[in-house]
Amino acid sequence: MPATSRDVVAHNDLTEQLAAARQRTDELFAVVTPEFLYERPIAERHRIVFYIGHLEAFDWNLLGTGVLKLKNFNPVFDKLFAFGIDPVGGGLPNEQPSDWPQMSAVRHYVGRARNTLDGGLANLLDDSAERTFDGFPLTTLLNVAIEHRLMHAETLAYMLHQLPLDQKIWQPESLHSGSCSSTQRSIQIPAGEITLGLFRSSRQFGWDNEFEAHRVDVPAFAIDQYKVSNGEYLEFINDRGYESREFWVNGGDDRDWRWKWEREISHPAFWKREGKDKEWLYRTMFEEIPLPLEWPVYVSQAEAQAFAKWAGKSLPTEAEWQRAAYATLRGGQRKYPWGDDAPSAPFGNFDFANWSPAPVNAFPQSASFFGVEGMIGNGWEWTATEFAPFAGFEPFPFYRGYSADFFDGRHFVLKGGSTHTAVCMLRPTFRNWFQSHYQYAYAGFRCVSRHSSENRFSG
Ligand code: AVJ
Repeated sequence: MPATSRDVVAHNDLTEQLAAARQRTDELFAVVTPEFLYERPIAERHRIVFYIGHLEAFDWNLLGTGVLKLKNFNPVFDKLFAFGIDPVGGGLPNEQPSDWPQMSAVRHYVGRARNTLDGGLANLLDDSAERTFDGFPLTTLLNVAIEHRLMHAETLAYMLHQLPLDQKIWQPESLHSGSCSSTQRSIQIPAGEITLGLFRSSRQFGWDNEFEAHRVDVPAFAIDQYKVSNGEYLEFINDRGYESREFWVNGGDDRDWRWKWEREISHPAFWKREGKDKEWLYRTMFEEIPLPLEWPVYVSQAEAQAFAKWAGKSLPTEAEWQRAAYATLRGGQRKYPWGDDAPSAPFGNFDFANWSPAPVNAFPQSASFFGVEGMIGNGWEWTATEFAPFAGFEPFPFYRGYSADFFDGRHFVLKGGSTHTAVCMLRPTFRNWFQSHYQYAYAGFRCVSRHSSENRFSG
């Protein structure tokens, strides 16, 4: 079947998006003072140099050798840089900087992979056959490459956040802290239905874990109008929240309490203070500033859950979160919480617009049908839902492990998006996930209560 002009436009648009995503990740690597590119800012993750090679090896393995059947020019690097995910359970990685290739060799690989791939793609796009690969159109594979890279742009930002300030090239930041104080309010969401996931028949791009769509009945609940702020979280800390075992055990399960104890965790990873009596500081990408009380707190799921218990509340399930964000009382679902308008600055803090968060109540225009604010951007939101396949899940044949490797009971779904989430991944069905003890993501939470009498913060 000959390609229609629509296919050609879609392909051209996607190759432009790939180029823009490359620029995004190049800019992030440029934050690091070159002599520190072999550092490992987060113990569980690879050294920075790995990610420079990985983004290209991924695209090359998927599109270069996979789709275009091009000849390898560096099979050693293709393999060395192939996989880049946190090891789960096992020990921490302990290879040395000298185990990695020289930066000049890595940069050479990057340049050659990009050029060869772009040449091959241009030929393929001109070639007028509408072809499929493993049964998927080329647009799906291009979207996989683009979104994979943009997800790494975000996780790279978390990683560079942990790099000591004197190893980064300082950039100016506009820090929206300000004094607009918020009062948390609880919003009632009546019982009703919500659709989770994408219909395969929609032919829209989604990752394997977004299929198949299905409806869920959600009983009535109440949800916080805003994400939990640093100021609210400080009350929990001041109330000896980190020293009180009761908030960190669930039934007989004390894994969160033991984790906190063994790692000697006494506050969010983004906070610091010099001595017990000193002021709390907040670590932004490039500065240490007095704790901005109105910004969303960024914590692990275990810490979020402990706060919720202290407040007499819970974390929302994925379906509750989805209903608060997208449902209406008129039957239909919104495209975004605020309606059908494309994402832009008044609706939230996302798409790399800022390095840092904004106050939790900075986006009144983002209100969902029910009046819940700031659900998209400014920090992912933890849910109580284990990351697991929807009925009808099928792994992508060309990337079988993307989701399936993490259906292990230790990863949980996050929804919404952060300052560093690209617009394409702000779609309602996108599902993010991390281990419940991961403290470094731009991720916070809001609470729900299933009995309104338990609302500590209800207005
Ligand atoms: C979807 C963000 C959990 O970084 O662990 C990147 C994305 N997968 N390369 C991760 C991912 C493979 C993934 N998250």
